[in-house]
Amino acid sequence: MLTPWVQIDLAVLDRNLRTLREALDSHTSLMLVAKANAYGHGITPIARQAARSGVRWFAVAYISEALQVRAACEDAQILVLGAVAPEDIRALLDHRVLPIIVDEAHGHALARAARAQGHVLKAHLKVDTGMGRFGVQWQDAVGAYGRLSKDPGLEIVGLCTHLASYEPRKPSLGTEQMAHFFEVEAQIKKQANGPLFRHVSGSRAFLYRSDWDLDGVRVGIAAYGYGTSERGIRAATQPVLQWRTGVMQVKRVPADFPVGYYSTHITPAPTTLATLAVGYVDGYHRALSNKGFVLIRGRRCAVVGRVSMNWITVDCGPDADVAPGDEAVLIGEQAGESIWADELARLAKTIPYEMLTSIHADCERHYISAPNLPLSPNTSLRSRS
Ligand SMILES: Cc1ncc(COP(=O)(O)O)c(C=O)c1O
Repeated sequence: MLTPWVQIDLAVLDRNLRTLREALDSHTSLMLVAKANAYGHGITPIARQAARSGVRWFAVAYISEALQVRAACEDAQILVLGAVAPEDIRALLDHRVLPIIVDEAHGHALARAARAQGHVLKAHLKVDTGMGRFGVQWQDAVGAYGRLSKDPGLEIVGLCTHLASYEPRKPSLGTEQMAHFFEVEAQIKKQANGPLFRHVSGSRAFLYRSDWDLDGVRVGIAAYGYGTSERGIRAATQPVLQWRTGVMQVKRVPADFPVGYYSTHITPAPTTLATLAVGYVDGYHRALSNKGFVLIRGRRCAVVGRVSMNWITVDCGPDADVAPGDEAVLIGEQAGESIWADELARLAKTIPYEMLTSIHADCERHYISAPNLPLSPNTSLRSRS
């Protein structure tokens, strides 16, 4: 194809989810973080497959994403990690979506909106133990819980925090944050009428700290196949997404041939250049100018010159047998070679999360179904997300 396209292997997702599930005790829920269009993988097909693979909990950033998950999974538990506006109360109630209370005023505002509809809203309370983002400050959390739990419009059914960092072999803020969380939890437990569903760990803490699993782990990047290559961790997963495009033009060039805007690359020797259909508009990072690699006919070809809006140029080498229409792998594997998002992220000085979520939502996404688990008729094998 002469436009960039994404291949998502739902069989790999299924394997990853089962691997993660097997690492957990039966009383801990695997909560799949499916925000940002399921980390660029397409929220609806990912939610459908995850539900088939046994996932019962989903975490998203916005109510709009929660509604997409609800449409895909009628019986899932869905948690919105961002601050839901009180105006969205009907959507929360009608679609059985759990919001997170990010501060006391937010909690009371949601409760007022729920009461106005004649309902009691179930919600989780977030404690800010050091992330400095959403949540009631941990020093105020016990008092805030006491007041919020007396509000007749609210039923607090969960308690959570988010870790800013975790390093397995060094002191890190995460360890301190957990001490604050456990302190708050112990106090709140004394006041609570029933059990609270407690969840803290993202992928990194999950991989190293089974003692922090509690009632649920909110796993994102590890489910999509990244961040699990270090030795000694609980579960190893594989990348679910590959990104490909086509060669549009091939040219044989001499030495000293300038390439791209501002001629930031000059060929040191005669070679073969290929121009590919992908650019920064599609999410191919400009920081990969003169740094990135692609695979063509199983060979690594360096990105030469600047990444431009719609095209990149790569050096295929003097003896390359490359032709227009050939497939180029931007992220993925070809003939035993591979380039994954974490390698590109290192070259671009960013993180695989950004590499994956930068891939434009308009890039066609093709889904490979999991064996013995056919996709439902509503999920097109060549759907646009
Ligand atoms: C609140 C929250 N929980 C969990 C996650 C999942 O993190 P990870 O992808 O590292 O597992 C995120 C991701 O950004 C998040 O914001």
